[in-house]
Amino acid sequence: MSRRVDQRDLLRLLGDTAGFVSGEQLSKQLGVSRTAVWKQIAAFKAAGYVVESVPSQGYRLIGSPDLLATERIAAGLPSGCVIGQRIVCLPETGSTNQDAFRLAEEGAVEGTVVLADRQTAGKGRLGRQWASPGGVNLYLSVVLRPELPPYEAPQLTFLSAVAVARAIEDETGLKPAIKWPNDLLLGGHKIAGLLNEMNAETDRIGFVILGIGVNLNMAADQFPADLRTPATSLKLALGRPVERNRFAARLLAALDDEYARFRRAGFGPVREAWSQRCNAYGRQVSVEVAGKLLVGDFSGIDHDGALLVGRLDGRCERVMSGDVTVL
Ligand code: BTN
Repeated sequence: MSRRVDQRDLLRLLGDTAGFVSGEQLSKQLGVSRTAVWKQIAAFKAAGYVVESVPSQGYRLIGSPDLLATERIAAGLPSGCVIGQRIVCLPETGSTNQDAFRLAEEGAVEGTVVLADRQTAGKGRLGRQWASPGGVNLYLSVVLRPELPPYEAPQLTFLSAVAVARAIEDETGLKPAIKWPNDLLLGGHKIAGLLNEMNAETDRIGFVILGIGVNLNMAADQFPADLRTPATSLKLALGRPVERNRFAARLLAALDDEYARFRRAGFGPVREAWSQRCNAYGRQVSVEVAGKLLVGDFSGIDHDGALLVGRLDGRCERVMSGDVTVL
């Protein structure tokens, strides 16, 4: 029986050489037949690698697909980051939030991150689904173990919205707006969503999972037809794709920075950074609460993340969850 080609070794040999490498040289170094090399290169091409093959010269690697890779994300993080101490990249999963939750229950360290190329059961807010096709976007979940009472956990949602906005700003120069509580919009179209889940006792948080989905390179025809909020991707907004590992590293670095500041200085700076980007300041909003439509002036967010809506009669209502429309 012929030996199997070690895919990593073959990629390394191709990547180490700027020019062509002959099939004979590859087969000798890998200890496999030339046919086996040829078959594996055909498989690489099918997976998105661009390999030039010239009969008298051999093979030349020209381009690699944008596959998520732990080493590449870790290489883009500043040293000493808490977020990203452990990075798990999966080709496919149901939901990274579920995976991170399970790892946290098993004792995973704070800052553990789970990323997946695609999700088959991506979860959105309010029981909705999150479209998660492969090869294009970012789907990641982060384990945090903050020393906070459970009622302050929503502060972390605001913190993650600020971190995603900062990553988009740094990567693209575009300025996303934040829609309460945690949608990121570009030109009124949703570019990212956050779903945070918690394990807690009465007075103390066990862990929080920050679930983040960013539409990086999705094409217009990949969005579900029945979206409540129209959506877009950075690629559609910029006219060029965004490299996923680099963006993931930027996002985790921004998250680490915001989390460190939060632990030093509390919620104040997060609320300030969130407010600067919020799309509703000084505007009238409507929000559905328990089947009734509440209309009033957007008056900011409370210490626990509640939306503050100023009524005509001077009262201020607190709203903990719902979909806001800026009027
Ligand atoms: C929303 O409805 O706006 C929240 C969407 C959150 C999606 C992300 S993708 C990574 C993580 N895993 C999930 O199943 N959901 C979150």
